[in-house]
Amino acid sequence: MRKFILIFKVKAYNAKQIVHIIILNQKNMSKAFIWTQEYSVNVAKIDEQHKEFLEICNNLLDLLDSEAFTNEGALTSIGRLGDYASYHLGTEEEFFIETKYPDASPHIEAHNQFRAKTKYFTKQVRDKNIDPREIVKEVANFAGDWLLDHILNMDKKYSKWFNDHGINGKN
Ligand SMILES: [Fe+2]
Repeated sequence: MRKFILIFKVKAYNAKQIVHIIILNQKNMSKAFIWTQEYSVNVAKIDEQHKEFLEICNNLLDLLDSEAFTNEGALTSIGRLGDYASYHLGTEEEFFIETKYPDASPHIEAHNQFRAKTKYFTKQVRDKNIDPREIVKEVANFAGDWLLDHILNMDKKYSKWFNDHGINGKN
């Protein structure tokens, strides 16, 4: 069984202190992204997608330990993250349209910035001069950190609106 050490990272969000628990693997010091109840947006379908998104980030980090690591495998795994992220961001945007969410614009803009960044990472993996392991580490850590921050700073803002429009914990 692997041994883990715990590191506590404190970030300020709107004058509220939220503690992120980051589990670092002693062997390669890579992060594991953990979904906890504080990240719930009170919409079951979206909570499940957020968990899957983080799992894909964790799988990317696991790839770094794999002896079967290849450039092609890295490209496929990053592509999988990009595909899942598109599917997930699209789900939220469909709910924005369905409920006529008033704050959709800045939220979609944040999604688009994420989409652009994942495209940039995919291009980097194709560049043979860059170590693909470094890119995998960078993309997984970027995507996991981005999602956790995005949930707390943006996604949670739509919870009440969605719930008031019939999209709730059971959807
Ligand atoms: Fe979002």
